[in-house]
Amino acid sequence: MNKEVAEEIGRIVGKGRCSTDIADLYVYGFDASIHHKTPDVVVRPSTVEQISEIVKLANRTLTPVIPRGAGTAMCGHSVPVRGGIILDLTGMNKIKQMRVEDLYCVVEPGVIYDALNAELEKHGFWFPTTPGSAEACTIGGMIATNASGMRAIKYGATRDYVLGLEVVLPTGEVIHTGTRTLKNASGYQLDRLMVGAEGTLGIITEAILRLAVKPKASAMTVAAFNSLVEAGKCVSNIIAKPLLPSAIELMDSVTIKAVNKCMNAGLPDCEAICMIEVDGHPASVEEEMCTVEDICRKSGSISTQASSDKKKISEWTQARKAIMPSLSRYGEKFVSVALADDMSVPISRIPEAVEAFHKIAEENGVIVGTYGHSADGNLHTKMLVEPYSDESWKAGERAVGQIYDKVLELGGTVTGEHGVSITKAPYMQKERHDSLGTMRAIKKALDPNDIMNPGKMFDWQGSIISHLRYPAFLDQPCERNDSCEGS
Ligand code: LAC
Ligand code: ZN
Repeated sequence: MNKEVAEEIGRIVGKGRCSTDIADLYVYGFDASIHHKTPDVVVRPSTVEQISEIVKLANRTLTPVIPRGAGTAMCGHSVPVRGGIILDLTGMNKIKQMRVEDLYCVVEPGVIYDALNAELEKHGFWFPTTPGSAEACTIGGMIATNASGMRAIKYGATRDYVLGLEVVLPTGEVIHTGTRTLKNASGYQLDRLMVGAEGTLGIITEAILRLAVKPKASAMTVAAFNSLVEAGKCVSNIIAKPLLPSAIELMDSVTIKAVNKCMNAGLPDCEAICMIEVDGHPASVEEEMCTVEDICRKSGSISTQASSDKKKISEWTQARKAIMPSLSRYGEKFVSVALADDMSVPISRIPEAVEAFHKIAEENGVIVGTYGHSADGNLHTKMLVEPYSDESWKAGERAVGQIYDKVLELGGTVTGEHGVSITKAPYMQKERHDSLGTMRAIKKALDPNDIMNPGKMFDWQGSIISHLRYPAFLDQPCERNDSCEGS
């Protein structure tokens, strides 16, 4: 990117909102994935007009634009693989309207999930999708990735709450999709197209979100099992009752050990646990929890410990949320990385899936911690790799391919909630083989110069073990990985 483009951007956004400082560029090259690449300029716009001007400039000069929220994405979404402009949208963080009587609110993209919920709670409402990164992630990022979390079984994913969007298209044109009404049959559902587009079709500058009424009570139980497969079967037994829990978090022995070691969490030391939550009216919560525990026992659980105490529920939830950092301390040489990390399978196929993942891990000599939002079939398999060992990455990549083949064989998807970007790209291409042409046609129509977050998803080629954030990989300097794409 030439110097004049950066200077022009500086003029558009004003002093202090644009940087080419080497330290800023370095840190903005990361998200929560295994990848890293330094951008050419970082911009912190404050208005939709500024964003439109920047995009027009980028389109004229064929400069990549990568929108970014809090950078909590796990697959490289905000890593600028072709350099260019990082648009940091975290400064656009106003809740512009709160219309609880109409069941919607209007927010800027940089509003943090927990901050929105703190505001909604004052009115008895919530935005219940519950991502793992709730304290940090932004609404814009959640829409761009169709993020969700532990309560999707009952409350759905981000897409189910998007009523309308303001979007800056790759030409700089500003459009408004959707409505402020709960129903809308008015033409193409363009907001749906933008959800999960991962910043490849435009920049979300405002969102109209549907609100949900917050349940008055909740209860949780931790059911322990001697077998992961039995725990998996228990999940389908609960759903088939029929009973709709608000969450069932499955944890295998690797993740239980990691959390107990790291946090002294006191979870039952067994092969698997299910943390099962029900919510609603206090009377129905009590009755449903009795039914849940009964099903757990009949499914082979060795212990259950129901509680409606908020402090206890919060402790269990914190233990569950600590899995990822705890896994990195599982063994001295390892780090826990997001490789094949958030597949979804039909709920009843969970036992088969988890059994296969453990077998694949064993056969490839890698350690995999399996856990996740099992109530909706969404599993996480965090892999422990030695970040400076070529062999360890290769074994990991081999296991990833086999895990995803199994997921597709079971009728699943390679990503339930984290998205594609770089780390899932080859596997998403396999999964979506007959609709890739349609995706490319849409991209070409909206972004003819390929400036919006280019080179990702259907356009990624080559290995996912690329643009690694670990510079000593293969004893090569960092830039070595820049040539990996397409190799
Ligand atoms: C979680 C994130 C990783 O559920 O999705 O912890
Ligand atoms: Zn998750």
